[in-house]
Amino acid sequence: MRRLLIAGNWKMNASMTTSSALLSELVNADISTCDVAVFPPFPYLALAAESLRASSVRFGAQDCSDELSGAYTGEVSAAMLRDVGASMVLVGHSERRQRHHETDALVLKKAQQILAEDMTAVVCVGETLAQRQAGLAEKTVTEQLSLLLSQLSLVQWQRVVIAYEPVWAIGTGETASPEQAQSMHAHIRQLLGQVSVALAEQTRILYGGSVKSASAAELFAQPDIDGALVGGASLDAAEFLAICQS
Ligand code: 13P
Repeated sequence: MRRLLIAGNWKMNASMTTSSALLSELVNADISTCDVAVFPPFPYLALAAESLRASSVRFGAQDCSDELSGAYTGEVSAAMLRDVGASMVLVGHSERRQRHHETDALVLKKAQQILAEDMTAVVCVGETLAQRQAGLAEKTVTEQLSLLLSQLSLVQWQRVVIAYEPVWAIGTGETASPEQAQSMHAHIRQLLGQVSVALAEQTRILYGGSVKSASAAELFAQPDIDGALVGGASLDAAEFLAICQS
């Protein structure tokens, strides 16, 4: 049985004060029934390391460089993230694919850097509204995953989590229906199954896009939904903890 993973992506919404408050609420909460991780902005990772030292809550970064080290002003390497204690990194979030024109090849390179540091890569995929309306949702997600499926080894895949985040559901208040989400998750699992049955069985596939405590339980009841990547609702400790408790 895959254990639920509830991940909170804070995006560029935090300060030292709010990060500190949110982290201490998580430390004091009883969330032992699922795996929980938070993804604060880079400047607050050291604070997360400090606050979560004695906690089962893991933390990670929202992005990293595709390069190992060197003259890359403004970039942060996977090794640096590992150095501050991060154990997970998001990669390929649609906000980065759209705003920074990140390609599937770049997403693969970043994932390889993350895996080389023995961290977990949480790879985000998902179609836009136009792609869904054109009947291209599954084709889009298949293409986003194809390089990863062909290039990463089965050992590397043990530290990959997939987050299906339909772009039209992110920050819009419009969650994919449990049926829509389940259908895409089943499609993703079938793609994993084409590589190996074990890969399909072991890989956690999270749903993201306007997840709230009110919608979480129904999503988690779907057979192929193994958790959530939560944006806005992860900034409200009570709401995030209610999602964890679902
Ligand atoms: P929201 O939960 O705010 O829609 O964000 C989802 C997301 O992009 C998480 O990575």
